[in-house]
Amino acid sequence: MKEKIKITYREAEERDADGLLLHLSRVGGESDFLTFGKEGFGASAEREARFIRRFIKNPDEIMLVAMDGDKVVGNGVIERERIPRLSHRARLSLTVLEDYSHRGIGTQLMEMLVSFSRKSGAKIIYLECHAQNSRALSLYEKFGFKISGTMNKYFRIGEKYYDAHLMELVL
Ligand SMILES: CC(C)(COP(=O)(O)OP(=O)(O)OC[C@H]1O[C@@H](n2cnc3c(N)ncnc32)[C@H](O)[C@@H]1OP(=O)(O)O)[C@@H](O)C(=O)NCCC(=O)NCCS
Repeated sequence: MKEKIKITYREAEERDADGLLLHLSRVGGESDFLTFGKEGFGASAEREARFIRRFIKNPDEIMLVAMDGDKVVGNGVIERERIPRLSHRARLSLTVLEDYSHRGIGTQLMEMLVSFSRKSGAKIIYLECHAQNSRALSLYEKFGFKISGTMNKYFRIGEKYYDAHLMELVL
């Protein structure tokens, strides 16, 4: 049984830029299921702060952080397509540090992201998930996401290729 830790959830603010970049490089180093590795996004703190500002300004998009004190331990994002004919589609991304996994943080972030998407009028939430990422697949399935298709060789990690499932939740 893991010890109890108080996790707080809130929208990301510009001051989280450094913490978020550190989180992404940590989680990227721990998982082979993401589009990046330990290099993270390779963005400068200034660029990351600009990216965060986009979510603060846009009422249809959200970036959430799960915090253990002042440490970012989870991140959940909803981005909307910019093209008008696709703008009903919301793209979801989710990361939780391995040390903080299996405590319900992913579930909590998912609840907030799905509820936000509904309220903001999105019609579909979609994401791409590494076909071997059974933990994430089962989390998304718990929320009603279905596999709509499989993309061949979606990831290239080193010399190897891995498929990804396109998963969608119709709201
Ligand atoms: C996939 C990922 C987001 C899951 O996050 P998480 O915080 O571990 O998710 P949860 O804790 O909510 O749920 C995971 C499991 O813990 C269980 N759990 C939930 N709350 C719990 C609690 N309070 N105590 C113990 N276990 C709990 C859930 O039942 C679930 O079990 P299951 O997989 O058998 O259904 C996280 O592992 C991760 O970020 N992985 C690396 C990056 C990644 O793969 N991102 C997704 C890309 S598509």
